[in-house]
Amino acid sequence: MVNRVPNPGELEPIETASVDELRGLQLERLKWSIRHTYENVAPYRVKCEQAGVSPADLSSLEDLAKFPFTVKDDLRQAYPFGMFAVPQRDVVRIHASSGTTGKPTVVGYTRNDIETWATVVARSIRASGGGPDDKVHVAYGYGLFTGGLGAHYGAEKLGAMVIPMSGGQTPKQVQLIHDFEPDIIMVTPSYMLNIADEFERQGLDCAKCSLKVGIFGAEPWGDAMRKEIEERCGLDAVDIYGLSEVIGPGVANECIETKDGPTIWEDHFYPEIINPETGEPLPDGEMGELVFTSLSKEALPIIRYRTRDLTRLLPGTARTMRRMDKITGRSDDMLIIRGVNVFPTQIEERVLAVSALAPHYQIRVARDGQLDVITVQVEKTVEAADADSAAVARELKKGIKDYVGVSATIDVCEPGEVARSEGKAVRVIDERK
Ligand code: DLL
Repeated sequence: MVNRVPNPGELEPIETASVDELRGLQLERLKWSIRHTYENVAPYRVKCEQAGVSPADLSSLEDLAKFPFTVKDDLRQAYPFGMFAVPQRDVVRIHASSGTTGKPTVVGYTRNDIETWATVVARSIRASGGGPDDKVHVAYGYGLFTGGLGAHYGAEKLGAMVIPMSGGQTPKQVQLIHDFEPDIIMVTPSYMLNIADEFERQGLDCAKCSLKVGIFGAEPWGDAMRKEIEERCGLDAVDIYGLSEVIGPGVANECIETKDGPTIWEDHFYPEIINPETGEPLPDGEMGELVFTSLSKEALPIIRYRTRDLTRLLPGTARTMRRMDKITGRSDDMLIIRGVNVFPTQIEERVLAVSALAPHYQIRVARDGQLDVITVQVEKTVEAADADSAAVARELKKGIKDYVGVSATIDVCEPGEVARSEGKAVRVIDERK
């Protein structure tokens, strides 16, 4: 039975350390990381010189706020390897994130970085209730994306048996889950739903399969989606968060005993929340943009990286380390419809509240004169295939109007018509460009 809480003896000592001990370690590591970056990453040193700060100005964790931010464009400008802090011979791996336009963002790892990454992912799987006796089916994509290999090395370090399936080949995903009987699956939540549909197509019941835990991330998903997946697939769904610039998956992971937002592995990644407009740091509990500073990374140390993800920091519960709230969305994905800010996860919640609708949706944004208008494309569940589409559309339209505050056009399709994801789902199609 994997669905269990790790006992304290199985945790790494830092997971149960006191807050004082944790802050002490963070400060020591932060001093090293700032100096390492300043001395070895020329573009960041130039930013520091322009801001009139140097490593000597850091004597407390609060002093971090004096240092300049790093943004995705800094990595693009330095494409491909200009932000690396070590000679190329010390870099043993690179990954890259595609980016919608232009060049990819390239990230690099030393042997120690790969070890750190495997450690935090192993810790994440353990926090999800997994252990060495488990079989882990990895359906995140392998390749330049950090999901597949990141999950893989972590599961292996934990001593689990890894099934390196990667994304795609959906019928085969089902076959292997059926035949190999994995305990844990690591996959995007949207692709999990696609796999669950394929179970049904093959006449199998996903809720009866061997999977007991799903470690879902790489895209936003709300609590309504958690409930939907847990019921449909008969497993515990926990949230894993990460981004390639900071290391990949495993920056934070939910603990199975609380399922109250990912615990940030703060001994390696120091979090801040800032006001996205002014850059001002905000106190814990307030919503804003999540910013990370790596504390131990060698090849690509990153200081105050602006993630664009919107959330807030919460006190630790299952661990001493702080948690982050489930991500509401990225500032880049926020739609402004007649002055109202709308995130795809809010639409998702309303779609899931309509029983005749399947949890597959896409939002199209178009321009009508000066105004932006949205159309939500959704489909009926197989069971509700005969339901009156107009009535279903009215129900969703009302839900979106009442809870999100915008008027949307609803396009109700037949089961299977909305585009499916095999990795990160594309939720918004912007037809204004
Ligand atoms: O998506 C790393 C990852 C792989 C995380 C597998 C979890 C599982 P990137 O491709 O660089 O890296 O995309 C990072 O994805 O800034 C968030 O906007 C989003 N994201 C990642 N995890 C979550 C999550 C990987 N649990 C970007 N909830 C991040 C919401 C997430 N959004």
